[in-house]
Amino acid sequence: MDCVGIIGYGHMGSMLVNGFLASGVLGTDEIVVASRGQKSRDACAAAWPRIGIAATNRELVRRCRTIIIAVRPQEMREILHEIVPVMDGDEHIVSLAAGISLQEIEGEFPGSVTRAIPTVTSAVGQGTTLVCHGRQVGMHDALRVEGLFSSIGNVVLVGESDIPAATLLSSCGPGLLAAIIEELAGATARASGLPPGRALVLATGMVAATAAYLRETGKAPGDLIGEVATGGGVTEVGVQGFREALPAVFDEVFAAMLERCDTVGKGGSGQAFK
Ligand SMILES: NC(=O)c1ccc[n+]([C@@H]2O[C@H](COP(=O)([O-])OP(=O)(O)OC[C@H]3O[C@@H](n4cnc5c(N)ncnc54)[C@H](OP(=O)(O)O)[C@@H]3O)[C@@H](O)[C@H]2O)c1
Repeated sequence: MDCVGIIGYGHMGSMLVNGFLASGVLGTDEIVVASRGQKSRDACAAAWPRIGIAATNRELVRRCRTIIIAVRPQEMREILHEIVPVMDGDEHIVSLAAGISLQEIEGEFPGSVTRAIPTVTSAVGQGTTLVCHGRQVGMHDALRVEGLFSSIGNVVLVGESDIPAATLLSSCGPGLLAAIIEELAGATARASGLPPGRALVLATGMVAATAAYLRETGKAPGDLIGEVATGGGVTEVGVQGFREALPAVFDEVFAAMLERCDTVGKGGSGQAFK
């Protein structure tokens, strides 16, 4: 009964199952998975033959006390309406859904609720899961959930009002950076005879090495720029170009993403969750 249930075996659900099992924080007898499609359930059973698979979300809820809901925000309401009537009230719901507040979930389930926002890079044990506990969450449950997510990277506790902007960085960030890597590789390929694939390998390696250098030396980005951009040199021209153009681009992009945060989970039209 103290199993961890994961509803939704999509990108996040499968990443969590793989991460929790690969890290050893849970064994196959401690996880139960439910997903809407038979194909997803079969994929999970094939990947982890001894794992618990529930035929329905209600069956999962009967077998688990910690219930991680890894479905799209617009599917949250339907799931809660389905599972809450068969819950005792002492379970702990952990929602991954972007844009669905604790208050909205607590309106359906007046027990322990936590929001957790992982990131796709947790699949390689790196990256940050943002965690925000609701008022009903006791110390034991809080530590249990933080321990689970610590097994796949870092955990940072945040206030709920900070989640949207922090999510842009920690969770959407890998997508944003991947788009920048594409642009760096594209510009390299266009300006040279290098095939795009090789330029992409160069760009990805450079970004990974730069992050490792900053992390390991503890230097600020400005320090690194000073080391590379010698006065009047090539890098200085590029850095100056970026500094002129990028703040406006980034502010515009972040504003558009924050606006989207306000509507995601509300059917895309801004209508209320309930
Ligand atoms: N992707 C990210 O980087 C990221 C990061 C942080 C947070 N999140 C949040 O994580 C959540 C999941 O995102 P995702 O990218 O994993 O989405 P996804 O790949 O579309 O997966 C969603 C899963 O939910 C399942 N599902 C839908 N309705 C269901 C139902 N009624 N009962 C059981 N399972 C149901 C689907 O099952 P079938 O495939 O079996 O139909 C699908 O596997 C979202 O709320 C998102 O906001 C995502």
